[in-house]
Amino acid sequence: MENQQKLIHTFGALAELGYEVAHKQNFQEMIRTSLHLLLGSLAIMRGGVARYARFGHELNMLVMRGLGEDFPLSLSLCYEDERQFLTNGLAPIAISQAKVLPFFQIYDTSFEKKRIDLLVPLVIRNEIVGVIILGEKANGEPYSAYDLEIICAMSRHIGVGIAQRNLTAELERRAEENRKLYDDLRATYKDTVRAFATAIDCKDKYTEGHSVRVGKYSEIIARELGWDENETEGAAVAGYLHDVGKLTVERNIINAPYRINAKESAELNKHPSVGYEILLPIHHPYADVPLAAKYHHERLDGRGYPDGLYDREIPYIAKIVNLADSFDAMTTDRPYKRRRPANEIVEDLQRNSGKQFAPELVTAFFKGILKELTGETKDKRFRRLLGRDYMEAEGLVPMLKNALNGINPTSGLTLVSLD
Ligand SMILES: [Fe+2]
Repeated sequence: MENQQKLIHTFGALAELGYEVAHKQNFQEMIRTSLHLLLGSLAIMRGGVARYARFGHELNMLVMRGLGEDFPLSLSLCYEDERQFLTNGLAPIAISQAKVLPFFQIYDTSFEKKRIDLLVPLVIRNEIVGVIILGEKANGEPYSAYDLEIICAMSRHIGVGIAQRNLTAELERRAEENRKLYDDLRATYKDTVRAFATAIDCKDKYTEGHSVRVGKYSEIIARELGWDENETEGAAVAGYLHDVGKLTVERNIINAPYRINAKESAELNKHPSVGYEILLPIHHPYADVPLAAKYHHERLDGRGYPDGLYDREIPYIAKIVNLADSFDAMTTDRPYKRRRPANEIVEDLQRNSGKQFAPELVTAFFKGILKELTGETKDKRFRRLLGRDYMEAEGLVPMLKNALNGINPTSGLTLVSLD
């Protein structure tokens, strides 16, 4: 008697351990150990634990002992079986009573052959999670009331273990579903951003594809800086949307085939602030997208607009977009200005490092181009964006290497007091 109490105690501890480590293998192990304890503690010859699959309406054997290889691994239940089990609840059913169950009639011979004595429907919180099948006792005696009590207690442990496992599996499935939904949403956001960038670019017939390219250059810079996937994506989005404020600037100002006058220029220069206002109320998955729009025309030396911020006051993302934006302006034809040759651009970016551009960004940018030119990367990012003319420009590799040596990694400005 005392021994059995101890066993039940051990069993409880074991079962609890089972749900805490709800991994599949441990689960199987937990069920196996539980069955062995149950059979062992009451000297039962054979038995098995089946898990109920709600969608297939079947009982699938999880573990069996002494039932032999010919015992069915899966037992189909019908509605009436389920109803009876639910009415019965978690309590052993003697096989003589179980004979009325439709499912029993199908598997009658298997049960008879293995001398199954008891069925325990594992009904946990009004749901069937499985069934325990138990054979006769080793001494041939019938089950006592006390035996049945122990069986009930142990079966509850096993049932709760299975219910717990089902719950975990369901949670995992939902989490996975959630993750997929999130991915979809993210893809939709990206598509929308791209569509927006194209819409912005449509307004300006001379700079076709500008926003899209600035997005891609910003992405390259972020990647070269070693930013993670999420941050890099954020930089791309900031680039795509940096000129969104231009949507409110009059078309003839944007498309003027001449250098615009002061008034028109003042109008055009509102686009960063307008862009900020447009982007601010939108919830972006990445930080600083509105700030990139607002400050992408600021310069390290404080001579930019709209606020004339100095180096450290400028949000980093805005510095990235500024470089990407300027680079695209230099490498594409404008109504009043032809694009410039590679050597001039390299020289310009180097000269303006620390004045307009953050030196480490120019360095990252040049390194990105070099990697592609020297074949260190198989990526054709720059070639696709710039075309052959630039990428095959005479002496570009030494030019870039030279420039990289010449760029002072700390901008002179950082040493200048701001007050
Ligand atoms: Fe702009």
